[in-house]
Amino acid sequence: MNILLVGAKGQLGTEITKCFERGRTELGVPKVLLSENFVRGIDIDELDISDVSAVRAVMNEKKYDAVINCAAYTNVNKCETERDLAFRANSLGPRNLAMVSEEFGAKLVHVSTDYVFTGDGSVPYAEYDVCAPVSVYGKTKFLGEEYVKQFSTKYFIIRTAWLYGYYGNNFVKTMMKINRENGASRVVCDQRGNPTNAADLAHHILKLLTTDEYGIYHGTGNGECSWYEFTEKIVEYAGIKASVSPCTTDEYPTPAKRPAYSSLDNMMFRQTVGDEFRPWEEALSCFMKNYLEMEKENKGENK
Ligand SMILES: NC(=O)c1ccc[n+]([C@@H]2O[C@H](COP(=O)([O-])OP(=O)(O)OC[C@H]3O[C@@H](n4cnc5c(N)ncnc54)[C@H](OP(=O)(O)O)[C@@H]3O)[C@@H](O)[C@H]2O)c1
Repeated sequence: MNILLVGAKGQLGTEITKCFERGRTELGVPKVLLSENFVRGIDIDELDISDVSAVRAVMNEKKYDAVINCAAYTNVNKCETERDLAFRANSLGPRNLAMVSEEFGAKLVHVSTDYVFTGDGSVPYAEYDVCAPVSVYGKTKFLGEEYVKQFSTKYFIIRTAWLYGYYGNNFVKTMMKINRENGASRVVCDQRGNPTNAADLAHHILKLLTTDEYGIYHGTGNGECSWYEFTEKIVEYAGIKASVSPCTTDEYPTPAKRPAYSSLDNMMFRQTVGDEFRPWEEALSCFMKNYLEMEKENKGENK
């Protein structure tokens, strides 16, 4: 297949690039990796997806069979003030990719978020549940989904959550740093969701590419926890001696409101190509083992 990977330098984009380079994901070999592929990775330094003519020009360079959109403005707090930037990356960009993918007959994989939900429920959200985001990030991502549905026919919208991977910054790395430096941290215990290893998500994205199982997917690590419980496991698996204590959202105010409960049910994956997302603790433990090895190797190189 000829694949255009947008947002290729972000944490998920880099993970997907590595899968193509290695010919496998952390979970196996999805069908697409059994044959030769041409993958063009691109990021904002070469293509701003909010510019429709630039998107069209890139799509004109090659007959792409699929576009994978990992690009987004992901700083949830900054979105509250940088509304135009958030709108351009999270709403207008997906609209452009959807319109142009449709013109060229390409499939579109678009990554979205659990923050499209309000978060006042108590059972995991299914793909059929009604969206009502509470932050600018969530609202712009939701409009991005709407545009994808409106302008393309061959789309996979995959909502993920609490994403962490080997590349780029994320909650796991931040908590490792804070707890190593301070020997302690306070973390909110009244927001619940699904930690998701980017390797698991990359595997599922690649699995979908060779199918026509279009639609909306929830794609998150199996099981749920609070940020506090997540941090307890991060510290334990990283072997960091630190005291992690719980606090409430009220005690830790942030510019953007977060859903209190945004756990997702991977129903569509289960019913179509299969839900192979690992239980979140298992995926985190595997990540940590590999990441600590990478840290050791990097230290060795820097000596
Ligand atoms: N991270 C999470 O916890 C999380 C949770 C739920 C859903 N998601 C979704 O998962 C997807 C991947 O997230 P991620 O963590 O890999 O994000 P990321 O690391 O922030 O990567 C996003 C990439 O997109 C680029 N970008 C931003 N605006 C762009 C534009 N207008 N045109 C082209 N590229 C642009 C960014 O460049 P700059 O860095 O230069 O801005 C960055 O390289 C996103 O759709 C995100 O909304 C993430």
